[in-house]
Amino acid sequence: MHLLIPAAGSGKRMGATVNKLLLPLLGRPILAWTLEAAARACSIEWIGILCQPPDWPAIEAIVAAVAPAKPVQLLVGGATRQESVYRGVEYLYSLGTVERVLIHDGARCLATPALFDRCSAALQQVDGLIAAIPVKDTIKVTESGPKGIQIQATPERSRLWAAQTPQGFRLPLLWQAHREALAQGWQVTDDAALFEKLGWPVYIVEGEESNLKLTTPLDMLLAAQILQQRLVPAS
Ligand code: CTP
Ligand code: MG
Repeated sequence: MHLLIPAAGSGKRMGATVNKLLLPLLGRPILAWTLEAAARACSIEWIGILCQPPDWPAIEAIVAAVAPAKPVQLLVGGATRQESVYRGVEYLYSLGTVERVLIHDGARCLATPALFDRCSAALQQVDGLIAAIPVKDTIKVTESGPKGIQIQATPERSRLWAAQTPQGFRLPLLWQAHREALAQGWQVTDDAALFEKLGWPVYIVEGEESNLKLTTPLDMLLAAQILQQRLVPAS
């Protein structure tokens, strides 16, 4: 399985002055944890990392330090996550030999190798899938009203899932979906949404509660705690 890791963001919500994926977490950059988990997943045979050109040397150093026993290639990302993925998919499609792809956010550094392998296996049976977990909170749909934000509806919780990555797709279909999005001006925050817009089925693979996307400083604290616990040998 080929894997694309979008890592070309800036991390505005983290409030740092550098790409958040370069920030240290238990002594190594966030992206190093993500890359190591992907490298340990037996089903992943090739990894492409989407980067902004100024981050290139730092990300090269991360790849050298993790030293995965599989090919890792850096690719130039775009101005949005969607554009970064587009470029990665364009590259893979140009090779002419790749049938399926997983996409996993660099910012989800707690995903386990087992989750990658589960997604790879499931993608042999379907054209599109995402890792997701059942929503724990009651979710409200709102609208701006005369006296503030007004609740419109409470969707039935048992049907709600929180989307994660990895997300996986048959490559020619994903390429077609991204081309269509460009033509139509669709802007989405994950790749599954493109399939949904086209009416193509996307299935859920049970994700992991600990598979957080590191977005704000609080997420850094939680991630450090979770990783620390994993490093403690079971007694
Ligand atoms: N990403 C990307 N290219 C972009 C923007 C985002 O490859 N132009 C990547 C990020 O590096 C991250 C993933 O997409 O791994 C999910 O994005 P997000 O968590 O929103 O990261 P940022 O965009 O960096 O953060 P923020 O939105 O707070 O600026
Ligand atoms: Mg973002």
